[in-house]
Amino acid sequence: MKIIMLGAPGAGKGTYAKGIVEKYKIPTISTGDIFRQNIKEGTELGKKAKGYMDAGELVPDELVCDLVVDRLEKDDCKNGYILDGFPRTIPQAEALTAALKEKGTGIDFALDIEMEDQAIIDRMAGRRVCAKCGETYHAVNIPPKAEGICDKCGGNLEIRDDDQPETVKKRLGVYHEQTAPLIEYYRTQGILHEVDGNLGLKGVNNKIYEILGE
Ligand code: AP5
Ligand code: MG
Repeated sequence: MKIIMLGAPGAGKGTYAKGIVEKYKIPTISTGDIFRQNIKEGTELGKKAKGYMDAGELVPDELVCDLVVDRLEKDDCKNGYILDGFPRTIPQAEALTAALKEKGTGIDFALDIEMEDQAIIDRMAGRRVCAKCGETYHAVNIPPKAEGICDKCGGNLEIRDDDQPETVKKRLGVYHEQTAPLIEYYRTQGILHEVDGNLGLKGVNNKIYEILGE
């Protein structure tokens, strides 16, 4: 099962991907997480990506496409995967379609998590991320058991560098301009499923499982 998570920054792509991983036992590939890991490790890729990310802009396509296509070759992707945050532009989607076509395969589901910008802005103010393992929480909606501490690994919870309100607004603008056209791209391919992102964690997860099937 090959799945793409579409949706604006903060719509919950990473959160819902986690539920899919547990239920369907396929890995998530989040380009945002890969970049953040590279920034933490101080790699060349991380150095190149950081400026764009902190400014709320997209990292150039040429730094993203090969990285993902190579990752899909790994053994753990044999039974499928969830792409979270990729593709994000039409050229990225075309590169993915072409790479998969070469292998005689394609994406099965494109899930678009729909939310209004204002609801996203309100929600992003509460996002907290573990500095050690990357687990995501929400200060009010999905809180950790002990304030400021990750349930999973005991690491400290932080606010992501690009979650400042001004940067969130910039990211939403970039989303509408460059990423939202993917909705039509995948509708045309006949694999688009729209999911109301306002249903609450359980409601959205259930809707997604209904679409993906058992
Ligand atoms: P990336 O890390 O992908 O960020 P994003 O798309 O902006 O999405 P987010 O991770 O911010 O949000 P999300 O939808 O995963 O929401 P979450 O589950 O956390 O990318 C970061 C940057 O990297 C980009 O800006 C770009 O520069 C670069 N980049 C990455 N991929 C790229 C690519 N392909 N091309 C070019 N550049 C790329 O949820 C948000 C919050 O809401 C959390 O606090 C969560 O706990 C809470 N929440 C979620 N669901 C619910 C619910 N149902 N009820 C209540 N609260 C909820
Ligand atoms: Mg995410």
